[in-house]
Amino acid sequence: MTGRPPILVTGPLPPPVVEALRRRCDADVYEGERIPRDELLRRLPGKVGVITLITDKVDAEFLDTAGPQLVIVANYAVGFDNVDVAECTRRGVLASNTPDVLTETTADLTWALLLAAARRIAEGDRFLRSRTPWIWGPQMMLGVDVHGKILGVVGFGRIGQAVARRARGFGMRVIYTGRFPASQEVERELVAAKVSFDDLLGRADFISINAPLTEETRHLFGREQFRKMKSTAVLVNSARGPLVNEAELAAALKEGEIFAAGIDVFENEPEVHPDLFECENAVIVPHLGTATVDTRNAMGMLAADNLFAAVEGRRPPTLINPEVWEWRQGA
Ligand code: GLV
Repeated sequence: MTGRPPILVTGPLPPPVVEALRRRCDADVYEGERIPRDELLRRLPGKVGVITLITDKVDAEFLDTAGPQLVIVANYAVGFDNVDVAECTRRGVLASNTPDVLTETTADLTWALLLAAARRIAEGDRFLRSRTPWIWGPQMMLGVDVHGKILGVVGFGRIGQAVARRARGFGMRVIYTGRFPASQEVERELVAAKVSFDDLLGRADFISINAPLTEETRHLFGREQFRKMKSTAVLVNSARGPLVNEAELAAALKEGEIFAAGIDVFENEPEVHPDLFECENAVIVPHLGTATVDTRNAMGMLAADNLFAAVEGRRPPTLINPEVWEWRQGA
């Protein structure tokens, strides 16, 4: 390609990333928090690369509007349920995500929610701020122990394993479900055993959801699953909201079917089901899994590297549809 490639960045990425993009590309950067769909469609035509956020829907309309010169959609996230990968592949458009660089940070946040939910941290903070008179008492705000318990991890990929690794410091045993068994080496290192989903529901004291959102995992957790969990169990979701039926989670929390939940992601983001606000035993945060300065920089640099490689004719490092790269090489 001659000249600086025209690209679109759909949101305010970290300044060092935007600077890097501007040095090598003719970058059209949307500065607001969330680009309206009509604005997105207006800016797409003629772009050869787009860095998208999880709030952007990359579908047939998006790809058709961009035009046939589009080479890559680089999603600024590890999850890519917002991208219709099959439509990208059908059109020969490369798609990439940002794995690895956010694994540890997301696992840290998962544990922050787990501990906060188990030990009633957010509730205690709200209580003190309410200025209600109080005095230490034997029955005051009792939580559940974390150390020595059983952690169940649903989805044992990079993030699920990083969550499990942290459990070792708490002397916990780990059970997991996933599409594939982990290697014996990983199972040995993490003292982890693969079990059936029902087994995990019944045995785990803490359940961390770390699976991608797909048609198979949508509403993996609902009333039926909460009823199979221990009444002392804590559920943590730092993956994607629609894996959990949020109304049914709120009902289970209200009725004491499970002890507590730590929730980073919501079924209809940015909406939060109103019943969840009523649950003192729900710790809710606004999709902060990857939200640290270092990790957001690293995600941005990886998205930029994918984009640079694609527009400069090199293989992008973290492709979701590598078959398109093979096809483009042969074309
Ligand atoms: C964030 O939600 C991500 O998928 O990276």
